[in-house]
Amino acid sequence: MAMTLEQAKEKLARYGQEHVLKYFGELSPEEQQELLDQIEVTDMGILEACGHREELVQRGVITPLAAMQLEEIEAHRDAFTETGMEAIRSGKAGAVLLAGGMGTRLGSEDPKGMYNIGITRKLYIFECLINNLMSVVRSADTWIHLFIMTSEKNHEATTSFLKEHQYFGYREEYIHFFKQAMAAATDYNGKIYLEEKGRISTSPNGNGGWFVSLKNAGLMETIHREGIEWLNIFAVDNVLQRIADPCFIGAVLKRDCAVGAKVVRKNAPDEKVGVMCLEDGKPSIVEYYELSDEMRDAKDENGDPAYNFGVILNYLFRVADLEKMAAGSLPLHIVEKKIPCLDEEGKLVKPEEPNGYKYENLVLDMIHQLDSCLPFEVVREKEFAPIKNSTGVDSVESARELLVKNGITL
Ligand code: UTP
Repeated sequence: MAMTLEQAKEKLARYGQEHVLKYFGELSPEEQQELLDQIEVTDMGILEACGHREELVQRGVITPLAAMQLEEIEAHRDAFTETGMEAIRSGKAGAVLLAGGMGTRLGSEDPKGMYNIGITRKLYIFECLINNLMSVVRSADTWIHLFIMTSEKNHEATTSFLKEHQYFGYREEYIHFFKQAMAAATDYNGKIYLEEKGRISTSPNGNGGWFVSLKNAGLMETIHREGIEWLNIFAVDNVLQRIADPCFIGAVLKRDCAVGAKVVRKNAPDEKVGVMCLEDGKPSIVEYYELSDEMRDAKDENGDPAYNFGVILNYLFRVADLEKMAAGSLPLHIVEKKIPCLDEEGKLVKPEEPNGYKYENLVLDMIHQLDSCLPFEVVREKEFAPIKNSTGVDSVESARELLVKNGITL
């Protein structure tokens, strides 16, 4: 039974969000029902956390975590690759594309994966990623299940685009879509913003929302049925990354780690990337803005910087651990963002400056719940070409340059 107006009023009153119904009387019956449905599914309990943001970000004691570096990887490449290939051929590895983000920095209205980075031909971001995965499928001679996370905001566009392009040659029965949960966005006092008179402002609940969303979509059944034991999650925006990389999978398996993280050597001590570390003795990620001068200057036993390996959002998780973890809840991150919203007169404004909070779960907190992590170095120029912006650092331009260097015709 759908929520009634009375029930909605009660829920809103409980959380001090009565203003959400400000324009209710102006809406059509369908719009009214949609708003009531949205009020019903929105988790408003989490919004109260904005009153004690500082407590949420308290960190433990950070110490370095050594990465497995290129030299060591090269020395074991054949053995690692063999183990990884075995896991892939026996269907134990699946891949999860995180494509639920808003891609606001790129400034395109379409999902990021639909962006055409070709110059003389069409080459979409999704196509690059599928090509990369296909190269493993070909050498293993085994299809790999690919789970694609979208959000309410881009699901339709993403699924129809991929279908229209026949999944760029990927076998349809190995592709599984699921939608990420959404969270409401608020002003600085935790009051929910409206993006339309009949719609609460929402955004995807952060990259850490992926596993619970996958589970809620009923996909664990597929995972168990297919015997998938490891999931390689990866971001939509790194067009050079290797997905289900046999050597990486093999290294994590052979070292018996709970999670593997692909990392790149930082290009400068103050590069803006999160760095793998230990926090109170458990794997974690320290953000660039959390690095003290002392940590930046710290050295390992070889005299190299101790916090030197940045994460690229390419992780290998063990399904059994993920299932244990989903029982508990992840900490909440409250992030200042620019949130399009209605002003006092009910007109939509797109702010130039941050005007409130989004509420997110992050992958780093999933890693922190595990006992061991293998940071696995990859060559930056070969595996890291993120597209965050349209020009400048981590942009379409810089990614194109790197693709060309890697022999891809644009
Ligand atoms: P980013 O942190 O770059 O966020 O995502 P974004 O939303 O894509 O881009 P901006 O900040 O608005 O410009 C890193 C990866 O995590 C995914 C993104 O799709 C991307 O692959 N992601 C992020 C999700 O899948 N869901 C989220 O809620 C957030």
